Order: sequence, then C-alpha cells, then structure tokens
Amino acid sequence: MKINENTLLEGLQVVLVPYNKQHVPRYHEWMKSPELQLLTASEPLTLEQEYDMQQSWRDDDDKCTFIILDKQRWMDSSLEEEQCMVGDVNIFLTDPADPSLAELEVMIAEPRYRGKGIGKEVTRMMMSYALTHLGIGRFQAKIGLDNQVSIGMFKKLLFEEVSVCQVFKEVTLELTVDKCIRMKLLDDLAHVKEKDYRQSCSNRHEVCSQ
Ligand SMILES: CC(C)(COP(=O)(O)OP(=O)(O)OC[C@H]1O[C@@H](n2cnc3c(N)ncnc32)[C@H](O)[C@@H]1OP(=O)(O)O)[C@@H](O)C(=O)NCCC(=O)NCCS
Repeated sequence: MKINENTLLEGLQVVLVPYNKQHVPRYHEWMKSPELQLLTASEPLTLEQEYDMQQSWRDDDDKCTFIILDKQRWMDSSLEEEQCMVGDVNIFLTDPADPSLAELEVMIAEPRYRGKGIGKEVTRMMMSYALTHLGIGRFQAKIGLDNQVSIGMFKKLLFEEVSVCQVFKEVTLELTVDKCIRMKLLDDLAHVKEKDYRQSCSNRHEVCSQ
C-alpha cells in the first residue's frame, strides 16, 4: 500500500517505518531461518524475489506493512537503519467483498527481542493504524497450532478462536472491534506519534525527544 510509504509511527520501545529497499538484505537473511519459515508459514525467496516482494508490499492495495525498529538504536544516527531492524508487522485485506476485514501478521525476527512486550506493542500499533487510517473493524490471525506464544499473544489481545484447520495445522483467531474496544485501544495508544518518515530520518535523535 502506498498510504504508509512516508509514515513513521513512534511507540515506546519501537518505531515502525515503511518497508524499503534498504531493509531487504537483512529481511532476506532472516527468512533463511528454518524456524522463522515454519513459524510464519513462509517459503524461502531468492534475494531478487525479496526485492520484488518489497515492491509489491509498496504497490499492492490489499497489503500494508511496517518494519519494526529498536527505538533506542534508531535514535543513534551513527547506526544504519538496517542495524536497528527487529521484525515486521503486516495486514492483508483478504476479502474484496469485505474491506473492513484484515488478517494480521507479526514477526519478531531477532530472538533476543522476543518476550519483552514488543509483539504486543506493535500488534496494537498496527491495529490502531488500521482502525483509524484503513477503516478496518475486524481482525483475523492465522497461527500454526504449535505456536503457543503467538496464540497466547493474540488471546491476550482479546482475539478468540473461530476455527481450526487440521489440514494446515492452523487456528484462526478473530477480534471484532466494537466501540468499547476501539476507545480503549486508541486511549492506550494515545502516546503513539505519527511522523513524516523521510524528514525524521535526517534528525533521528531529536525526533524521538519531541
Ligand atoms: C509470537 C511473537 C510475535 C510474540 O511477540 P513477543 O514480543 O515475543 O511477545 P510479547 O513479549 O509481546 O508477549 C505477548 C504475549 O505472548 C505470550 N508469550 C510471550 N512469550 C512467551 C513465552 N515464552 N511462552 C509463552 N507465552 C509467551 C504471552 O501471552 C505474552 O503476554 P504477557 O506478557 O502479557 O503474558 C514473537 O515471539 C515472534 O515473532 N516469534 C517468531 C515468529 C512468529 O511466531 N510469528 C507469529 C506468526 S503467526
């Protein structure tokens, strides 16, 4: 999607930025991991295919993605953005007949960043962005039956199990955002700042203290 091509979202532990060409080599390295391929149900791609994928994330109207950066590291402008990457968070509009439905995916690719609340933080940031900018009102997550951490995380975020597919060994969890959930989510995330990404890149440490 082009809507977030110049959007930076600043949270507590992270900043979310659009997926750009400069992120592709590290992303490609991550996805060589058999563990991540399994947990995210992904096929390995060549570097060239990953560049095509990055372009399609940018261009296609049915998907929106952000790269997750470690905010502390990103504030240090001596580091390349690629050195601050932690994972990604995505939504797909899966049903052309229902543009208010989106599938959510999150990956904390760097193991040392897991279990610190970042998965929950970025999922909620993406949900808030999708509610306010994309008109989404219902979220789904499709998760491998063995991935108890991810299932646990989405349940903590009030998602409920709606179906299990034994063939794909996958559970679908869903959350319909009513008025009450929406108000609470937006209230809890009132600290999140939306900024101009390109401008922010040139004065990183000042951006986060503003
Ligand atoms: C699944 C994943 C997104 C969770 O993100 P995270 O940053 O590690 O999780 P958080 O620290 O935000 O914890 C969120 C919830 O997950 C669950 N959780 C986290 N670590 C856990 C662990 N080691 N064991 C069991 N549950 C765990 C808990 O319910 C936790 O909520 P709580 O802290 O309030 O108890 C992340 O671990 C990840 O990306 N793993 C690899 C790829 C993957 O599995 N992606 C999901 C594909 S569907």
